Amino acid sequence: MSLAVVTLAAGKGSRMKSARPKVLHTLAGQPMLGHVLDTAMSLSGAEQHVVIGHGADLIREAFGATPVNWAVQSEQKGTGHAVAQALPAISDDSVVLVLYGDVPLIRRDTLLPLVAAARAGNLGLLTVTLPDPGGYGRIVRDASGDVQAIVEHKDASQAQRQIREVNTGILAAPAARLKHWLPQLSADNAQGEYYLTDVIAMAVADGLQIVTHQPDSAAEVEGVNDRLQLARLERIYQRQLADELMRNGVALMDPERLDIRGSLRVGDNVSIDVGCVFEGEVTLGNNVRIGPYNLIRNSRIGDGVEIESFCHIEQADVASACHLGPYARLRPGAELASGARVGNFCEIKKSQIGEGAKVNHLSYIGDASVGANANIGAGTITCNYDGVNKSRTEIGAGAFIGSNSALVAPVTIGTDATVGAGSVITRPVADGELAVGRGKQRNISGWNRPVKKD
Ligand code: UD1
Ligand code: CA
Repeated sequence: MSLAVVTLAAGKGSRMKSARPKVLHTLAGQPMLGHVLDTAMSLSGAEQHVVIGHGADLIREAFGATPVNWAVQSEQKGTGHAVAQALPAISDDSVVLVLYGDVPLIRRDTLLPLVAAARAGNLGLLTVTLPDPGGYGRIVRDASGDVQAIVEHKDASQAQRQIREVNTGILAAPAARLKHWLPQLSADNAQGEYYLTDVIAMAVADGLQIVTHQPDSAAEVEGVNDRLQLARLERIYQRQLADELMRNGVALMDPERLDIRGSLRVGDNVSIDVGCVFEGEVTLGNNVRIGPYNLIRNSRIGDGVEIESFCHIEQADVASACHLGPYARLRPGAELASGARVGNFCEIKKSQIGEGAKVNHLSYIGDASVGANANIGAGTITCNYDGVNKSRTEIGAGAFIGSNSALVAPVTIGTDATVGAGSVITRPVADGELAVGRGKQRNISGWNRPVKKD
């Protein structure tokens, strides 16, 4: 029996106070709807249906590459009406699981018992017991504990409002049953909406068993209506990721001060200080030590690398035993061979830095290759851009570039060549040569300093 997931995402989310549709607001760098779809797609063989309304085009565009059947609900007439929009595309013999684009932390394991109940011909319902159930639909059970109905808060009696077990909205049922029930919904209630929750009483009347299940933690079923709730879930989610890292042996100086927006893969004996942000796909090798306040995006960091504080590293490949920072910037295409060092206020772009080479202070190396064990003195700049074209600089192994040199590309500096400090290099320097390209020093003796006129 195939599984069709229907994710509701048509609501406006006015309390976000944003032009962006609510489900495109991000949690850990990914739209909330993306989290839900990832979980839904982890249910093997599930076909995906998403009901959209407000901001439909933006949502479709954001998920252009995801295999989803979009159903448009142009007017939001309630959750029952929303699910009905997806049903025509779903075959009668499948099972439907209803999820929500603004409930991003739901886990796969929590959904499995619901799907199993529906596959057995029953209705699986996810409920949660809350200390303060205000606002939610209440789960009404009979004397023997069987669920009879869900009553929305606004329609509930004083006695029903005492019930602390509430509806999460997440349920699973046979598609044929939903196709039979949904057309019978009425909007004759406090909100004038077609409530999905009314199918519970219909299922009971049709002799189905209502199989309830609760999530491990209430955060899993928490919906996001405003930015405060989104920020709350972000911290909960980040803490889960941090805990997972620590269980895998990573030393985190403070698990509350770490942000992972993507996937972070780690080796053994890694330590990460406070305030680090990892974005996209990041891999850290064994024995990596990362100091405080670093941003690392879509990069690979090899074994034994040490990163001091305040580095900005993007699309870089850093081989083993390199040393970075403090305050180093690696831009896309920075490739460091093992043992290379890039120090404070250095920027490396689209360049290969050879084994053991040093770029330690205040340099810009762009469109260049730096040979093994070369030493790039403080303030060295590769002048790679003439205002129109980018050109390359090749620096040989063992070269020594004196401080504050400008290497005007295209230019080649040979193996073991030396450049005198303060040089502007415009012509190639051969292997082993010394190049000095600067004004000659003159010393004037007996020089009298100017005196102040009165
Ligand atoms: C719903 C449940 C309630 C449950 C609560 C949990 C109903 C009638 N009530 O109430 O029992 O305790 O969720 O949060 O189902 N949506 C659409 N189209 C619509 C209406 C809603 O796509 O026409 C989407 C919304 O974008 C939202 C979700 O469905 O993501 C929930 O809708 P909402 O109206 O907020 O339901 P609640 O009143 O919270
Ligand atoms: Ca809601």
